[in-house]
Amino acid sequence: MEDLSLHILDIVENSIRAGATYVQIFISIDEKNDLLTLEILDNGKGMNEETKLKVLDPFFTTKQGKEVGLGLPLLAQSAQLAGGKLELESKPDTGTLIYAEFKLSHPDCIPLGNVISTIESLVFINREVNLVFKFSKNNRNFTFDSFKFLNGNEGISQSRFIQLLRNKLNSGLKDILSSKIKSNTELVEANNNRSENR
Ligand SMILES: Nc1ncnc2c1ncn2[C@@H]1O[C@H](COP(=O)(O)OP(=O)(O)OP(=O)(O)O)[C@@H](O)[C@H]1O
Ligand SMILES: [Mg+2]
Repeated sequence: MEDLSLHILDIVENSIRAGATYVQIFISIDEKNDLLTLEILDNGKGMNEETKLKVLDPFFTTKQGKEVGLGLPLLAQSAQLAGGKLELESKPDTGTLIYAEFKLSHPDCIPLGNVISTIESLVFINREVNLVFKFSKNNRNFTFDSFKFLNGNEGISQSRFIQLLRNKLNSGLKDILSSKIKSNTELVEANNNRSENR
């Protein structure tokens, strides 16, 4: 079984191959609505109508010397197996949006995998690309912008760069990732306390 992080690597690779200079990755976990969603938006060369119809066919690829193109079909399969779906919007010379949805409580819902090291590798390898990573869990949000990060850390050594990047992602994500949604009774209690304190 793939995890979401491996899918992210595949889909972002597509964006980079399409010449994108901006790629936004958005993961959202919404326990109330039982939804895990992944959105990857790029400003690459996009796809025409004909290509869009073919991309979910595993035997379609524009990679030279390859006979299969599995990135998108596998993501679509993971989503469908978890009671979700994949949607795609794309316009030539404008860009592409890939949207995948999973039912969180579904027994076949894929795990997140190592999101932090995935983002870390993508930022490290693609420094010329503005990668924006957004993570949201039950309305708690974290945003990381690779260009802002790179601008603030020019001229540092490679090992220091990796260390700072890891710290930044870890500190932003750790609490959110481990946070659990409040049960309905806890939510009611919290609401009551709020109104009592007013
Ligand atoms: N973001 C994108 N922008 C433009 N074209 C895209 C994008 N993503 C996919 N494509 C087109 O869809 C094709 C299929 O993509 P898919 O990821 O399924 O397979 P692949 O990248 O060709 O091969 P693989 O992922 O197995 O290495 C690509 O070859 C490319 O032509
Ligand atoms: Mg691919």
